[in-house]
Amino acid sequence: MSESAKVEISRGLENVYIKATSLTFIDGEKGILRYRGYDINELAKNAHYEEVIHLMLYGELPNREQLSRVKDTLNSSYEVPEDVLRVMEVLPKDSEPVALMEAGLAALATHEKGFKWKEGDREKALEIIGKVSTITANVYRVKEGLAPKIPKPSDSYAKSFLEATFNKSFSGTETSMMDNFLVLYADHEVPASTTAALVTASTLSDMYSCMVSAITALKGPLHGGAMEAAFAQFREIGDPSRVDEWFERNIVKGGNRLMGFGHRVYRTYDPRGKVFKSMAETVSKGEARKYLEIAERLEKLGVRYFEAKKIYPNTDFYAGIVMYGLGFPDYMFTPLFALSRTLGWLAHVVEYVDEQHRLIRPRALYVGPGERKFVPLDQRK
Ligand code: SDX
Repeated sequence: MSESAKVEISRGLENVYIKATSLTFIDGEKGILRYRGYDINELAKNAHYEEVIHLMLYGELPNREQLSRVKDTLNSSYEVPEDVLRVMEVLPKDSEPVALMEAGLAALATHEKGFKWKEGDREKALEIIGKVSTITANVYRVKEGLAPKIPKPSDSYAKSFLEATFNKSFSGTETSMMDNFLVLYADHEVPASTTAALVTASTLSDMYSCMVSAITALKGPLHGGAMEAAFAQFREIGDPSRVDEWFERNIVKGGNRLMGFGHRVYRTYDPRGKVFKSMAETVSKGEARKYLEIAERLEKLGVRYFEAKKIYPNTDFYAGIVMYGLGFPDYMFTPLFALSRTLGWLAHVVEYVDEQHRLIRPRALYVGPGERKFVPLDQRK
């Protein structure tokens, strides 16, 4: 039997399982998402990001002593070598925000000497989670032409990040919005960005390289760039009264993708999307309120139009409105996704290298010409 006859290619690795995991469970049919067995709705309502960090890296929700150890480690990890921020500052102001983040991480990686897996992986992951807060805060500050700032140690990672980014204090409600965002985006099994991190980890490259691989994959509009792309739709529509005409022209007649809708795994509502929708309803005022009304009308039209294909709003549809309401410009949405997902990326690579390491090296089915003799240049047509 020929090679091509017995091989089945799974395009986009759809339904291919590349690892076992005890981190995150998704039921795409029922719209269930759990971190280490805890439902995402419970965690979003009750847990701070620091508790989820301990849960994902160490397997259990932390007791008081473990929680304060996580906070102490994060607080002592915000510092970065001063050349890292200088590198970010000298890059063009109109740099792609995610490219700035990659540059900051790559600059950090130059200080990483002799990293060895299985020697304090989880502590290294905690340190990177701290430093990514500094890098992300300074993506905004560099883009806005502001002096770099290091997050100040505090009782909340979300608060330290917000205050370093905007150089002002935030209310408890705003800080918990940021905290909820970090919890909701923390992990999602093995999407493209996590798979990119796993491939890099499988060669036993270092953790910073896994981060850069993940972030470059996240950037695409079909993945982490969707929050910004969904928000760009709301801006383009501009007013709730124009949603129906826009939808007819762009989606029905134009056949374009409705950004923030659809998912490779969910065949129903993405549970995170529902939480962000209710968050958007509480925070949105002014312009954000108008975008919420546009999004709600768009959701109604989209769910009706795509029902047969089981395409529903995903996490990115409403999340941008919440972050916009917190004061973030839309160019910060993908960096914010990366900030939160640093935990998921590193938890997965640590789990993979610790428990089931194997070099990831798939095959490609050859469908080109059979063996041919070389033809010298003067004999070619
Ligand atoms: C994230 O994987 C994760 O877990 C990712 C994530 C995470 O937390 O890490 O959940 C975060 O990336 C969420 C997804 C964000 N992306 C978007 O919102 C971009 C818009 N969505 C689509 O491009 C799409 O839904 C994907 C890419 C998300 C998933 O697409 P698939 O599984 O590859 O499906 P497909 O492209 O093969 O589409 C199947 C059909 C096609 O129609 P037909 O050719 O069969 O007629 O569904 C259609 C597609 O055209 N379709 C859409 C659509 N999504 C799929 N049509 C219009 N609008 C859409 N959004």
